[in-house]
Amino acid sequence: MIARNFAISLISILPFIPLSAQKAPTSRCAVEGALLPRPTNVCSHPAFQSAASKLSSYFDDVLSGNLTADFDTVNTSFAIAFVSLQPGWPRPNKPIYTYTHLSPANENGAKKLDGDSQFLIGSISKLFTDIILLKSGVDVSEKITKFLPELSTTESLVRWDDVTIEDLGEHLAGMGPNYGFPEIYDLIPLYQQLGFPPVEESDFPPCNVAGLNRACTRQQLLDGLTKAHPVTAVGERAVYSNLAFTLISFALQNATGKNYSTLLDELVIQPLNLTNTGASPGDASKAVIPPVDNGWGLDYGFSTPAGGLFSSINDLSALALSILDKRLLPPSKLRKWLKPTSSTPNLQYSVGFPWEIYRTTNLTPSYPHTIDIYAKDGGAYGYVSRIGIIDQYGVGFVVLTAGDTEAIYPIAEATVATLIPAVEEAARSEAEKYTGVFGSDAEAPVTANFTIDSGPGVKIQSLMRNGSDILRAIATIWESQQVSLGPLSRDFRIYPMEISRSQGLGNGAVVKEDWRIAMERDTEKELPTAVAFGKTCTTWQTFDLLYYGGQPIDRVVFWLNVTTREVLGVEVPFLRSGMLERMDGDMMARMERVN
Ligand SMILES: *[C@@H]1O[C@H](CO)[C@@H](O)[C@H](O)[C@H]1NC(C)=O
Ligand SMILES: *[C@@H]1O[C@H](CO)[C@@H](O)[C@H](O)[C@H]1NC(C)=O
Ligand SMILES: *[C@@H]1O[C@H](CO)[C@@H](O)[C@H](O)[C@H]1NC(C)=O
Ligand SMILES: *[C@@H]1O[C@H](CO)[C@@H](O)[C@H](O)[C@H]1NC(C)=O
Ligand SMILES: *[C@@H]1O[C@H](CO)[C@@H](O)[C@H](O)[C@H]1NC(C)=O
Ligand SMILES: *[C@@H]1O[C@H](CO)[C@@H](O)[C@H](O)[C@H]1NC(C)=O
Ligand SMILES: *[C@@H]1O[C@H](CO)[C@@H](O)[C@H](O)[C@H]1NC(C)=O
Ligand SMILES: *[C@@H]1O[C@H](CO)[C@@H](O)[C@H](O)[C@H]1NC(C)=O
Repeated sequence: MIARNFAISLISILPFIPLSAQKAPTSRCAVEGALLPRPTNVCSHPAFQSAASKLSSYFDDVLSGNLTADFDTVNTSFAIAFVSLQPGWPRPNKPIYTYTHLSPANENGAKKLDGDSQFLIGSISKLFTDIILLKSGVDVSEKITKFLPELSTTESLVRWDDVTIEDLGEHLAGMGPNYGFPEIYDLIPLYQQLGFPPVEESDFPPCNVAGLNRACTRQQLLDGLTKAHPVTAVGERAVYSNLAFTLISFALQNATGKNYSTLLDELVIQPLNLTNTGASPGDASKAVIPPVDNGWGLDYGFSTPAGGLFSSINDLSALALSILDKRLLPPSKLRKWLKPTSSTPNLQYSVGFPWEIYRTTNLTPSYPHTIDIYAKDGGAYGYVSRIGIIDQYGVGFVVLTAGDTEAIYPIAEATVATLIPAVEEAARSEAEKYTGVFGSDAEAPVTANFTIDSGPGVKIQSLMRNGSDILRAIATIWESQQVSLGPLSRDFRIYPMEISRSQGLGNGAVVKEDWRIAMERDTEKELPTAVAFGKTCTTWQTFDLLYYGGQPIDRVVFWLNVTTREVLGVEVPFLRSGMLERMDGDMMARMERVN
């Protein structure tokens, strides 16, 4: 029935389609994530080498006073690392770029700053805690009250029975950030001078109030949490919470019988061979200790899982690389982990587990497209840090600062603004191997011409079979579906799909890599519009939609040499093309006569 209707619709519509309508695309949609294969030789690419030396001279100039930056360069130390996937297995675990500066004003701590120097990393600790959770085998969909039944009381204002471990790890429990802290008892007179009413000592929480009482015990914290007001309903919107991570550590302890430091050691530090990461206090002789008030040397107690770790750029680089090469967690779980879980009112800023996700189109001005940075910031007294993962390029960065707490922002901005355009260049250069004219000399010859231009992905300039223009055919078929799919852009582009398999053995082995055509709508505006849906990007809804003889009309498969990764040819399964070889001049001349 469906087939018959389809045939009828195709037949009835076909004659009316203006086949000559070759409109330029009005907007670029492309696909989510990687637009080209992740480059593996960024560090040797001339564009990167030149960007890296430019970045270093920016920092040199800031420190020499030749360039102004919005931070106190006298009291601030910092360390920057940039990582990229590199060839080889095991892959090299070191950054491809570093820059370090030790403030001459430092009186305590390390006398030199290198990749192993220790900084407090504040809330980057939450990233470690979520990793521990994901690696612990604990089911994150379990309710927190399964592990901490004492939270399950009828008087509790927070509906703890509704809160899952996952809610806690992605700031969706609706709970507040802290208990007791950061109230400072000694400031009460100042508040009253400013007009606040009098309060009794008994009004305060029994613990964690600076100047009044001691740090909370586990029991006091849990009691406090049954009396605390929720900020919002469970699952309603992201509310940043430190205590959520303390609760995760309590739940983990209950589920595994192991404390946080043991789990950190067994699940992260040892597997990644991190040598300068742990629960504060670290090693003062290797520490960057700024000349301003700071929290180096503190024991963060129950707050450690939220903000009490120290680490180094080398260790955080190793962590970033283990995420980029999908080694830290099972790959499918890791890919899903690199997704937002909540939005914020800022279209370009969302929240994950526990990622702080920046979506920008500004980083590659020569080839504008969407780039997501999965980042986590951390602040500890006197320290601010940021780690960032840009999975679509297989790159990441780490910026650790000690001193002026504003330093991180211009430093992290300069780092990505300078290096990412070069990474884009490197990705484009490496993807040149997928371009060219491919063809087969078969009875019904097929030729495909792939290029890289300033747009996203690899462009299909042409796809011909025995004289027929297959791209035009796809558009015709697309536009004559009974349920309208809308007008199709004539700008056909393919994108790598992270699906590959090896075939054959030894020298004959090939890797077959799936790419897909993203079917982009050609948007037309006729009625009045406020562009409410103007940025709609529906390519994710239209993969694998149309088939021909059991083969999807968007699938293109590249054949690579398993050893050299050289592209041997390309196959267009829906055209039954077999492997199309890269064409030499003679072959092109022969084909010219046909197509
Ligand atoms: C500042 O820049 C000028 C001009 O580029 C250069 O001559 C000078 O040596 C620089 N000064 C320092 C301290 O780097
Ligand atoms: C986990 O919590 C339950 C309920 O409080 C308790 O019975 C059990 O002993 C705890 N397990 C561990 C390992 O702490
Ligand atoms: C965690 O457990 C280990 C092993 O039982 C113990 O040596 C360590 O002192 C504990 N750490 C903390 C912070 O309680
Ligand atoms: C772990 O790191 C240390 C110090 O960086 C290094 O000497 C050692 O070889 C590493 N071990 C492994 C198994 O990679
Ligand atoms: C550096 O720190 C010292 C000590 O805290 C402070 O007196 C000085 O003003 C700071 N320097 C700058 C440039 O902020
Ligand atoms: C190729 O096209 C020619 C000319 O239209 C036609 O005669 C021939 O049958 C076609 N070959 C195949 C295999 O479709
Ligand atoms: C392939 O496409 C490019 C870009 O449009 C063009 O310059 C080139 O001539 C084409 N090659 C063939 C053999 O058609
Ligand atoms: C892959 O490359 C190696 C090394 O150049 C070569 O020996 C082998 O024959 C190639 N395999 C294929 C299938 O092209």
